[in-house]
Amino acid sequence: MEVIIPNEPSQIPVLVADAICALVERKPDATLGIATGSTPLAIYDELARRHDAGELSLARAKAFMLDEYVGLPAEHPERYRNVIDTAFTSRLDIDPANVHGPDGLADDLAEACADYERRIVEAGGVDLQILGIGTDGHIAFNEPGSSLASRTRIKTLTSQTRIDNARFFGGDIEAVPRHCLTQGLGTIMDARHVVLVALGKGKSEAVHNLTEGPVSALWPATILQHHPHASVLLDPGAASRLQLSDYYREAYESKPAWQGL
Ligand code: GLP
Repeated sequence: MEVIIPNEPSQIPVLVADAICALVERKPDATLGIATGSTPLAIYDELARRHDAGELSLARAKAFMLDEYVGLPAEHPERYRNVIDTAFTSRLDIDPANVHGPDGLADDLAEACADYERRIVEAGGVDLQILGIGTDGHIAFNEPGSSLASRTRIKTLTSQTRIDNARFFGGDIEAVPRHCLTQGLGTIMDARHVVLVALGKGKSEAVHNLTEGPVSALWPATILQHHPHASVLLDPGAASRLQLSDYYREAYESKPAWQGL
């Protein structure tokens, strides 16, 4: 796991966009793993800027979302499919038919999850997975207690996550769905490269556990310690509880420029 704390936090979306551009250059039909939440928005802004400048084309790329609320009406603005349409799909030249998400409105949710796993495999697997992290250490919607080997399935959100996400639902916790479909930790671990971004002091406990704590279902993101290519990008607030932050900074400063993420 490589921990990067850039001197200038505004570099974080630039570094992630650089990695995506390098991937698409060597593999134009690459498969991206895309995340919701507020953290990745600056990455999507940077990708859209590069697309508008003629520097990036996702015309042949595919994308898979991490998760979806169960039962939100098709037109609901917080349905993750709609959030991704607005923040990502509509601003890039990716074919909307190539942007996939778990179907939170399916009659048979278990079959929808199995079908999602099949679609990821048929697409050749995820090349680069963007991740945020919840304050309780979840990635996608794998809440504490999730099996470290889990696949796409239905999960019940913790009240902490519903409190955290109420800001997207007019502050009304009761309006936040209780259930979601989410890629499992095992599914996410199959991605060839995972890039996790965490911003702000509110994430510092989760980040401390992610990078320096024992691997445990209590902090689901810790499974990434077993990933062969995981990049963790942090601003100073998110990094504020790390024991080894001086070492991470020193290692990054002396990293060869050609290496990328
Ligand atoms: C939701 C999403 C996660 C995301 C998390 C953090 O729970 N399912 O994928 O990482 O929110 O969101 P934010 O980036 O807004 O803090």
